[in-house]
Amino acid sequence: MLPPFDLTQYYNAATGELTSGKCVERRLSDLKGCFADASAFEARLAAENPLLYAVAAVEPGQGEGDLHYGIGVLYPGKIGNEYFMTKGHLHAWRPAAEVYIGLRGQGVMLLEDESTGDSRMEPLTSNSIIYVPGHTAHRTMNTGNEPLVYIGVYPAKAGHDYQAIAEKNFRHIVIEKSGKPTLLPRMNRSESL
Ligand code: F6R
Ligand code: ZN
Repeated sequence: MLPPFDLTQYYNAATGELTSGKCVERRLSDLKGCFADASAFEARLAAENPLLYAVAAVEPGQGEGDLHYGIGVLYPGKIGNEYFMTKGHLHAWRPAAEVYIGLRGQGVMLLEDESTGDSRMEPLTSNSIIYVPGHTAHRTMNTGNEPLVYIGVYPAKAGHDYQAIAEKNFRHIVIEKSGKPTLLPRMNRSESL
């Protein structure tokens, strides 16, 4: 029997909410070390532990040619002047590329080539498409005032590697400057880690 491929099984386009699926929820406490402003992070966490994002993973098959996809809902907010973001990862199987499709809201993706360190920021909005090549760390940020909803489609065997990001973080940060998302080099990032 074919698994359900109808997106409305997982996502309510009217409300922007995930309706079912294997849902992973990440709260502020799960993103310790991700935000540049550690004191703003601690102050916010002392007051509350908000839900930053939820992802419903849809995994129709595990075959060599199969694709999986995740429907992500990333909520709006900031820590200091840095936007709410995903943890960010490389794929465990490094050659795995991914296509992101924006469904609603306003955001950006931060892409970083693992070997060269080259970074770029791409807009992720409704109807935008971002190709994330293999060997590229990727993180999503909500730069707007409403939930950012997107789909990421990737090879079934891609996997997630969070370790490299947890140890070194991205080389760049995205902050709100003069009302706009701005890409800046991260200060005090240890290259030796
Ligand atoms: C899968 C993928 C997305 C992310 C999602 C949450 O390869 O890129 O489905 O998993 O945006 O981000 P992370 O996994 O970094 O917490
Ligand atoms: Zn990915």
